[in-house]
Amino acid sequence: MKKIKNICCLGAGYVGGPTMSVIALKCPDINVTVVDLNKDRIDLWNSEDLDKLPVYEPGLDEVVKIARGRNLFFSTDIEKAIASAEMIFIAVNTPTKTYGEGKGMASDLKFVELCARQIADVAITDKIIVEKSTLPVRTADILQTILDSNGNGVNFEVLSNPEFLAEGTAINDLLNADRVLIGGKQNSSGLEAIESLVNIYSNWLSPEQIITTNLWSSELSKLTANAFLAQRISSINALSELCEATEADIDEVAYAIGTDSRIGPKFLKASVGFGGSCFQKDVLNLVYLCRYFNLPEVANYWEQIILMNDHQKHRFAKNIITTLFNTVNGKKIGFLGWAFKKDTNDTRESAAIYVADYLINDGAKIHVFDPKVSENKIKEDLKQLWKLKGLDVEEINRKTNQIKVCNNHKMAVHKSHAIAVLTEWDEFVNYDWDTIYKNMYKPAFIFDGRNILNNENLTNIGFKVRSIGK
Ligand code: NAD
Ligand code: UGA
Repeated sequence: MKKIKNICCLGAGYVGGPTMSVIALKCPDINVTVVDLNKDRIDLWNSEDLDKLPVYEPGLDEVVKIARGRNLFFSTDIEKAIASAEMIFIAVNTPTKTYGEGKGMASDLKFVELCARQIADVAITDKIIVEKSTLPVRTADILQTILDSNGNGVNFEVLSNPEFLAEGTAINDLLNADRVLIGGKQNSSGLEAIESLVNIYSNWLSPEQIITTNLWSSELSKLTANAFLAQRISSINALSELCEATEADIDEVAYAIGTDSRIGPKFLKASVGFGGSCFQKDVLNLVYLCRYFNLPEVANYWEQIILMNDHQKHRFAKNIITTLFNTVNGKKIGFLGWAFKKDTNDTRESAAIYVADYLINDGAKIHVFDPKVSENKIKEDLKQLWKLKGLDVEEINRKTNQIKVCNNHKMAVHKSHAIAVLTEWDEFVNYDWDTIYKNMYKPAFIFDGRNILNNENLTNIGFKVRSIGK
């Protein structure tokens, strides 16, 4: 078995950065170099001030502080890092295609393909290539074909090692993983490569936490895991609407069913809808694959998760408008939260973007406060959406004027007609709600898209509270 001394990771994003930092922390004898095409991102990874790391994750700064400069390096010199590594992780983005064949459904593999071509160009020694990005089942075939076109007589062994971390808890998820999954070819060179990677994780995980399978099971298990998780959220969100119609309480229902050990309590929190860069993209990818393999019933089954999630975001926004006497035109709505979940600065596919768009269409003035998301990011998120919808520059500028980003919550909610909670940041619970109430237009509405606030207290203060599934 090959003893790995140098690792390279292509992609210094939310996955590449934290996963490689933890590998470097736990394997001091291995040099880990994380490279990216994006120089600004690499500069931020190298910044002296650890508050400036491009990814916000609790505990990440501590890990980077220990390992960076010792055996963890961030660089834009991709060729050099590829050349000197025995093992190369591919952790680049695999977004939903926005053009051409499979538009809006299939994963865009152009970044992954580019990585394979770069590796094939540069490599003059044997390498183990590890798929860390989430990929459609059978992508390893594509990678192997491209890599094998390298004319240097180099042997490439492709492994699948999907990542299961969740943002906001990434460091803990990596240090105490439920499991890591490693798929590889079931022949002698494949099994040897699997063992090299098992060896790395064995520095901090027990054998029971390391699952090995064939390549295709590993690739498909990642899509399946995300589909199952997203399916639970859409299921509970579907029932939240039934609760609202029947006076059942969705949190009570979730608790009651979650105590059944076969169902379990996790991922049953009703919400304004799931966001994040992966659930939607991976479920759509699964649906696309099923259609590709001519399995329409299977595709339609999984697609319902996305349709329900869109419905949940839409009905939350619509409820704000109907409750505010059927128009929010010229009204100030204070948004608490923009990130797709708490403890992250990531906003990709956040429900807040879609709710804001819907309300802005009705003429609302949205004032946002998020503890970790910048003004620039918030405006960019909306501009991106409007561009995708085909709006012209003038219209985009006009709409952008309806959004104001505040650097504290008081400004966001002062003299507002309603408050909407879009992210479950802990600090929102303990705000001085008495004072907030005094400074709002009456009736003062709160739409709690995360069911985190204390309804009874707020109602006693005078708020009209609307939660999910209550
Ligand atoms: P990201 O967009 O944060 O990071 C990807 C990085 O790859 C970018 O910085 C980009 O510049 C870089 N890149 C693109 N092409 C490159 C190339 N040829 N060479 C070097 N760098 C290149 O994405 P992410 O959130 O880290 O996700 C990466 C993959 O991991 C995706 O497939 C995603 O589905 C999967 N994943 C993400 C999470 C998560 O929590 N974000 C969790 C599990 C799996
Ligand atoms: C998710 C998975 O949990 C990870 O295992 C996976 O590795 C990752 O996707 C990925 O492949 O990218 P992440 O999206 O970071 O992780 O965060 P989650 O905690 O899963 O939350 C996703 C969304 O669902 C958030 O908007 C969250 O608020 C929402 N959610 C989650 C609910 O609305 N209710 C819940 O009960 C749980």
